[in-house]
Amino acid sequence: MRRSRFLFYALATVLAAACGTKAPQMPADAVSLRSPDGRLELKFAVVAGVPEYALDFAGQAVVLPSRLGYELIGQENLDGGFTLSGTAFNSLDETWEPVWGEESSIRNHYNELLVELKQKAGAVMQVRFRLYDDGLGFRYEFPQENALTYFKVKEELTEFAMTGDHTAWWIPGDYDTQEYNYTESKLSDIRKWYEGMRLGNASAEGFSDTGVQTSLQMKTKEGLYVNIHEAEVVDYPTTNLDLDDKTFVFRTWLTPDAEGVKGRLQAPCKSPWRTVMVCEKATDVLASRLILNLNEPCALEDVSWIHPVKYMGVWWEMITGKSEWSYTYDYPSVQLGVTDYAASTPHGRHGANNENVRRYIDFAAENGFDALLIEGWNEGWEDWFGHQKDAVFDFVTPYPDFDLPALNAYAHEKGIRLVMHHETSSSTVNYERHMEEAYALMNEYGYDAVKSGYVGNIIPYGEHHYSQPLINHYLFAIKEAAKHHIMVNAHEAVRPTGLCRTWPNLIGNEAAMGNEYRAGINPGHTTILPFTRLQGGPMDYTPGIFETDMSVTAPGQTGKMRHTLCNQLGLYVTFYSPLQMAADLPENYARFMDAFQFIKDVAVDWDKTLYLEAEPGAYIVTARHPKLATLNSGRLSGKSSVWEFVHPDGRPHDVWYVGGVTDENAREVSVKLDFLTPGQSYEAIIYADAADADFETNPQAYTITKQTVTSASVLDLKMARSGGFAISLRSL
Ligand code: NOJ
Ligand code: CA
Repeated sequence: MRRSRFLFYALATVLAAACGTKAPQMPADAVSLRSPDGRLELKFAVVAGVPEYALDFAGQAVVLPSRLGYELIGQENLDGGFTLSGTAFNSLDETWEPVWGEESSIRNHYNELLVELKQKAGAVMQVRFRLYDDGLGFRYEFPQENALTYFKVKEELTEFAMTGDHTAWWIPGDYDTQEYNYTESKLSDIRKWYEGMRLGNASAEGFSDTGVQTSLQMKTKEGLYVNIHEAEVVDYPTTNLDLDDKTFVFRTWLTPDAEGVKGRLQAPCKSPWRTVMVCEKATDVLASRLILNLNEPCALEDVSWIHPVKYMGVWWEMITGKSEWSYTYDYPSVQLGVTDYAASTPHGRHGANNENVRRYIDFAAENGFDALLIEGWNEGWEDWFGHQKDAVFDFVTPYPDFDLPALNAYAHEKGIRLVMHHETSSSTVNYERHMEEAYALMNEYGYDAVKSGYVGNIIPYGEHHYSQPLINHYLFAIKEAAKHHIMVNAHEAVRPTGLCRTWPNLIGNEAAMGNEYRAGINPGHTTILPFTRLQGGPMDYTPGIFETDMSVTAPGQTGKMRHTLCNQLGLYVTFYSPLQMAADLPENYARFMDAFQFIKDVAVDWDKTLYLEAEPGAYIVTARHPKLATLNSGRLSGKSSVWEFVHPDGRPHDVWYVGGVTDENAREVSVKLDFLTPGQSYEAIIYADAADADFETNPQAYTITKQTVTSASVLDLKMARSGGFAISLRSL
């Protein structure tokens, strides 16, 4: 009965589209909630026992009537037989200050509707809707007073019925990886492009050839930007979206655990927020703080130990194959505490050796960086990959040629903190076993940040990177790290959903395809990520690769990355992260010290951000004003990492940075500097693609020009194909 009603809706939608007739409507007596500005309207109703919602913007449908509910395992489903037993309205208008971020304060302004639904047998399910001016969040809540106590989810039935065949920027649905290029296509073409998108990642598992991941950015034919994502995923699996490409209805598709269960819940409990962002302008999508606002306030009382980090790494040389993480070729397999590394012959290609690490420390210190990541410092890398090995690393035992105490002391003398690396090889059981000791070692030597990694298939066997037990593991690691005053940057962990508001020691995540994919990254990729992946939190994209020809960086290697040098400079402004890497090798930067100056000068924490121009898959131009309060916080050197902000006569300089990136098309942009203080003159240093720059033929051609500007100035700049620009502005 219910199924046929939804079939009717689906057919009605298609027919409505085809014949120009009216799309399905919510019942006239639906409960209504409006956004603070009144432009978004949420409607909720129980139709023949089934809870439904719909969303309109300025009187036009954005989400057509869409069902809510669950299918359970071994218990009565929560998919019908409901009556509406209560409604409650609320609202909030507050301003909060993030510990780090794109601005120093964020307004959290919404109207709320809580509906209570009851089944005859006594199951109670509530749905909390929060409507902001830029979108909707809603979640299921299961109160304590309930016939449901322990229950297992077979499927979450939440739907998002789109109004038509929107353009989408999507990556394939997957239980284990987000490391994909984006495809831009119509919803109806997702199936057509799907196969070409799948990757041979170390761990990847799809479920449908119309499955996509959130955050999913779409654009309607009327030009409205619609984005579906989730916020605050805690003790619950991550969702993908499965599309019915005949009706354009998405359904949540949760990541199953090893037994196929898509969530083990115990009342009282809540689902993550489901979100639908609706913006008239692309720049408003970038400015939206919907996901952060839906998360809980900061859980830490003392945040004085959390600070922005600009870092380099003994890293790119392993990624490119110039050197290796491992120490010896003597053993086909190694065992912690058993293998005698001191008795082995080193292969001579180990990147994390004392001499090489000192070279990086010197370069990072000379150029004002905060920190240096070193990978491959610890025993176990000989057979870490591809074996689903349980006891793979202990995170405390260095290789014989890595003198941890001496290198750490050397780094600290020079004002550089070392960043710890914990590659778990996805053996989360092993990581949890060693975590306390591993964090204690960091405390002993004054490491205050760790990059963790989850390459390969998960142990416990059969679990997925995004299943509920793993979601719990990642948060456990963040909370334990917080107890030790350690900041976390997790790679291959779940894509962020705004938890950094609550746990600001989560200063970075990868959870997308970053520069490490080298030649595999499509031009334009970085013009999409800020609309999608970065909605949930910052990304450790590892920008700053100046040498795109891999044979130059690592003799014998092949492949060319597809960006210009100035494109990489632009990323320091268009991609927000309080943890920002200069990822290339010191010897590559040494060849372009004048352009490297921008990376040295740029700040990484901001009190104000302006999105000047943007279109997903095309271009982004962003201006940012540094947050003076955190400029030098946490720096061992005590010296400024960025441009001198104080004039010789003691007056503070006013400083701005502007960055732009484009896709495979060259573009001209006019940057209006009307955000500068009127009447004030500024020195502008402009790093731009040279007239003959091109990502394929001439990626390292750039110009650096200086000019005096005011708020009345307009800078006309040309970005080469897959190019960009960067500007430093300092008041005179
Ligand atoms: C994958 C990470 O993304 C990369 O940054 C790291 O170097 C390797 N795993 C090894 O841990
Ligand atoms: Ca990765």
